[in-house]
Amino acid sequence: MLVDSHCHLDFPDFAADLPQALAAMRENGIDGALCVGVNLEDFPRVRALAEEHAHLFASVGLHPEYHQGVEEPDEARLVALAAHPKVIAIGETGLDYHWHKEQPAWQRQRFRTHIRAALAARKPLVIHSREAAADTLRILKEEGASRAGGIFHCFSEDWAVAEAALEIGFYLSFSGIVTFRSARSVQEVAARAPLARILVETDAPFLAPAPYRGKRNQPAYVRHVAEAVARLRDMPFERLAEATTENFFTLFPQAREALS
Ligand code: NI
Repeated sequence: MLVDSHCHLDFPDFAADLPQALAAMRENGIDGALCVGVNLEDFPRVRALAEEHAHLFASVGLHPEYHQGVEEPDEARLVALAAHPKVIAIGETGLDYHWHKEQPAWQRQRFRTHIRAALAARKPLVIHSREAAADTLRILKEEGASRAGGIFHCFSEDWAVAEAALEIGFYLSFSGIVTFRSARSVQEVAARAPLARILVETDAPFLAPAPYRGKRNQPAYVRHVAEAVARLRDMPFERLAEATTENFFTLFPQAREALS
C-alpha cells in the first residue's frame, strides 16, 4: 500500500484521462492521494474529487506563485473551507523566491495567514518552500506552526534544512527529484531522515520520476519514487511503503478513518 501525499489531479492535464489515472493507481497499489489546492478559484474541483472518490483527499490554500487576479483568502475563509470532512490540510502555502526573486512581503503575510488558519482549523500544513528555506523556517517558528504540523512538500533542500524542519516537528515528502542522478543532496536527505518522518509524493502532473522524466506525471508513479527512496535507504520496498503510508495516516487521522 502506498499513498501519494501531493498531486494535482484537478489540473487540466488530467481532464482527458482521469479515469485511466485512477485505474493506474489501483493497478500499482496506490491506495490514496492528497489532491492539493493551489487557489480558491479551482478549489471546488479539488473538493469535488475528494467527494467523489473515497481514496482522494483535498487541501485548501493559495500557492505562493499566484499574485494578481486571484482571491486572497483571510484566515476565516480558509478555516471555513477546511471544515469539510475530506479537506485534511491547509496549503499549498509557503514561500517561493525562485519565481519571485524580489522576495515580496505579500508572500510572507499570506504564509502567516495560512499558518494561523491551520492552527485554528487544527489541520496540518502543506508547505512549498523554494530558495526560501531560512524565511520559511523562521516564520513557522514565529507563528508556532509546530502545533499544526505538516509537510515540507517536494523536499529539495540539503541536510541542514532537513534537520531544522524535523526539529520543529515537520515531515519531509520526497518527489521524483530523488530519482534524478544529479539530486545528490536530496538523496542524502532521503537516506538519512528518520523513517517515521518521511512521505512520498508525485506532485503530478509535474516532476515525473525516472524512467518517465519529462513526461506527464501521475499518482501511479509514486511507486517509482518509493522504490528509489527504499534503495537509497537500503531497505525493502514493502517496508518503506508501509512506513510512509503509516506516516501519512499519523499526520492525517481523517484519511485513515475514510480509508478503513
Ligand atoms: Ni504542488
